[in-house]
Amino acid sequence: MPGLDGDKILVTGALGQIGTELVEALRDKYGASSVIASDIRSDEHNNAINNGPYATLDVLDTDSIIKICKDEGIGTVYHLAALLSATGEQNPELCRKVNVGGTISVLEAARECSLRIFTPSSIAVFGPDAPKHAPQITDLNPTTVYGETKVKGELLAKEYWDDYGIDVRGIRYPGLISYKAPAGGGTTDYAVEIFEAALKDGYYNCFVRPDTRLPMLYMDDAIRATLMLMDAQSGTLGPSKAGYNIDCYSFTAEELAHAISKEIDGFKCDFSPDIRQKYADSWPDSIDGSVAKEEWNWSPNFDLDKMVKEMLNGLSKEH
Ligand SMILES: NC(=O)c1ccc[n+]([C@@H]2O[C@H](COP(=O)([O-])OP(=O)(O)OC[C@H]3O[C@@H](n4cnc5c(N)ncnc54)[C@H](O)[C@@H]3O)[C@@H](O)[C@H]2O)c1
Repeated sequence: MPGLDGDKILVTGALGQIGTELVEALRDKYGASSVIASDIRSDEHNNAINNGPYATLDVLDTDSIIKICKDEGIGTVYHLAALLSATGEQNPELCRKVNVGGTISVLEAARECSLRIFTPSSIAVFGPDAPKHAPQITDLNPTTVYGETKVKGELLAKEYWDDYGIDVRGIRYPGLISYKAPAGGGTTDYAVEIFEAALKDGYYNCFVRPDTRLPMLYMDDAIRATLMLMDAQSGTLGPSKAGYNIDCYSFTAEELAHAISKEIDGFKCDFSPDIRQKYADSWPDSIDGSVAKEEWNWSPNFDLDKMVKEMLNGLSKEH
């Protein structure tokens, strides 16, 4: 299996919120020299660049992806490069180009170089007509461009698996909460920013309403889920493999603020919804992860209170 028998791993979009931690976890597991981090930009402070091989790579450049895969003996690609929901809605053309075009580039490289692929989906695939506790299988009618690109990503993954036998897997990540790299312009960024603001200012002005309930996951769990899915035997995976719902935790913005105020005396949070409220309102409150549980045994370790403690400890140490 690539990543285990000597084939190397390429991570696209490696300097982002997920890539920063996924590269670290992959290097711990397979050795630093086996994991090539890549991104379109540079960041001298990011360990993905400092602790192992790094390449500048635009995911729209299929030839360069194929070249690096051939030159380096890549067997698996974790394809994280994308524009997130809030940034994507401000620039829909670029969002379609990078999210759909980039995925096609990576899938074409997979055909040419026999790669296994991990490409994340999102809870943004669901639209307002989906049940508020979203099942694995339901109509996917997102009202954001970002959500459309994620539905397209799942369809492309299925097409390449069915038509060309490419092993493409994905998780519909919920909002991810972490402190090692900044959140990348998504609608759930408030659930990350609030911690930094609480520690620094004792105050946060949240950009969604207090009753906004969304599915969320602490980054440690997200990374563990990603590695578990990629380690699963392909025979155990059913037709949802390109976009698994996974069990996670759902809480409102007000419940999050309350959990933080139990740890930080005097913390105060106001709520001033902006355009991102509309995107949040179009998504489910919670998701049903029973298929992922059944097929590859997923369940999260972190609930709201445990995650809040970890975030505050981690951020305090960083400063
Ligand atoms: N973070 C979340 O809460 C979340 C939730 C659901 C799904 N996801 C998905 O997970 C994946 C990674 O998300 P993230 O939070 O790490 O995003 P991020 O915005 O933090 O990082 C994305 C990275 O992609 C890079 N990038 C952009 N255009 C590129 C290009 N043309 N070529 C190469 N690199 C390019 C950016 O420089 C950035 O470092 C995305 O597919 C995203 O849709 C994330």
